[in-house]
Amino acid sequence: MSILSGKKILLGITAGIAAYKTANLVRLFIKSGAEVQVIMTPASKDFITPLTLSTLSKNPVHSTFYEKEEENELWNNHVDLGLWADYMLIAPATANTLSKMTNGICDNLLIATYLSAKCPVYFAPAMDLDMYIHPSTVTSLEKLQAFGNTLIPATKGELASGLVGEGRLAEPKDIVSFMENDILSSMPLHGKKVLITAGPTYESIDPVRFIGNHSSGKMGFEIAKAAANLGAKVFLVTGPSNEEVIQASIQRIDVVSAEEMYTACHHYFPEVTIAILSAAVADYRPKKAAAEKIKKKESSLAIVLEPTKDILASLGVIKKEQFLVGFALETNNELVNATTKLKQKNLDAIVLNSLNDKGAGFSLNTNKVTFIDKEERTIPFEMKSKSDVAIDIMNEILKKLDA
Ligand code: CTP
Repeated sequence: MSILSGKKILLGITAGIAAYKTANLVRLFIKSGAEVQVIMTPASKDFITPLTLSTLSKNPVHSTFYEKEEENELWNNHVDLGLWADYMLIAPATANTLSKMTNGICDNLLIATYLSAKCPVYFAPAMDLDMYIHPSTVTSLEKLQAFGNTLIPATKGELASGLVGEGRLAEPKDIVSFMENDILSSMPLHGKKVLITAGPTYESIDPVRFIGNHSSGKMGFEIAKAAANLGAKVFLVTGPSNEEVIQASIQRIDVVSAEEMYTACHHYFPEVTIAILSAAVADYRPKKAAAEKIKKKESSLAIVLEPTKDILASLGVIKKEQFLVGFALETNNELVNATTKLKQKNLDAIVLNSLNDKGAGFSLNTNKVTFIDKEERTIPFEMKSKSDVAIDIMNEILKKLDA
């Protein structure tokens, strides 16, 4: 899945012959799962029609400060458009538009929106080769980059004038991958790997029965999503769970028992930067699982249990540079118990989950946690959705990695 999936892209089109390529550009953005709105300068409509772009983007195209609909005049709010966008791209960007962007000459909706936009702005110039190397254009390109905008350079090739040189609009597929790579490389966990455990474990009693718990896996799956959204490659080792993974950067490893989870975690742990163990691992398992279904015979049945391996503690023993985070589910003496676990298992942080808090628990969508670091600093969070709790946890970890 593309990093652009679910993102809002504002495409500004200016009056160059390469504007005809923006039909394909819009298609590629939509295909990548992005939402697209288009702003055109009035003159760009001579090169491609708004109808083509509104059909492909599935949104009305904007080009003037207001639109006449019968007797009504509708204001196109450039501030709203600028705030709506996660990313703005101006392609093709003509010499005229580049110069206006540089000098704040705000005589059309596109420039007004550009000046209002708070999101990252990309611009892909396209013009004839002599225009491209003219000091005026070179100055515009430099100034816009100094403003923090990102240049998607023009390429070399045959130009509309028949001349051959630098000035061609980068191909739409290259513009999309340029933006994807740029966004990915600016993410704080880009190039890093994260191990996460989630869900319950099932410990077999016989071929049809097991000892398990009510963990849904939701919290761990949300943490996996939050880590992937920060650019990490995630190994999500999960016990049986109905939760689903959609991001391509999350590799799901399904396990059933604590023993299988232990093996999978030890396999991935050496290569990760961060490990977050949120699974509700069974502490005990039947000493011997019956080979055949246990028949109902006696009035009572005793199952002898033995401890499972403590995965978190075992990683604490072998840990080198990894930032290791555990979870503590407590019902009493919460802070003391959680801090004791943090020390005993050689962790860098622990997330305390108190079952006493209403709205915090296994199959709910909300949770209330306290983040405790190695220095025993406690950061309590409000009751939040599990996806927001996951973002809080990842942010605390990022702060620690930066420190
Ligand atoms: N954990 C683990 N392997 C186990 C048991 C627990 O990796 N066999 C991890 C959990 O994923 C969690 C942390 O240890 O991150 C704490 O789990 P918890 O059940 O709260 O604590 P325990 O250490 O098992 O202690 P107790 O049950 O006595 O509170």
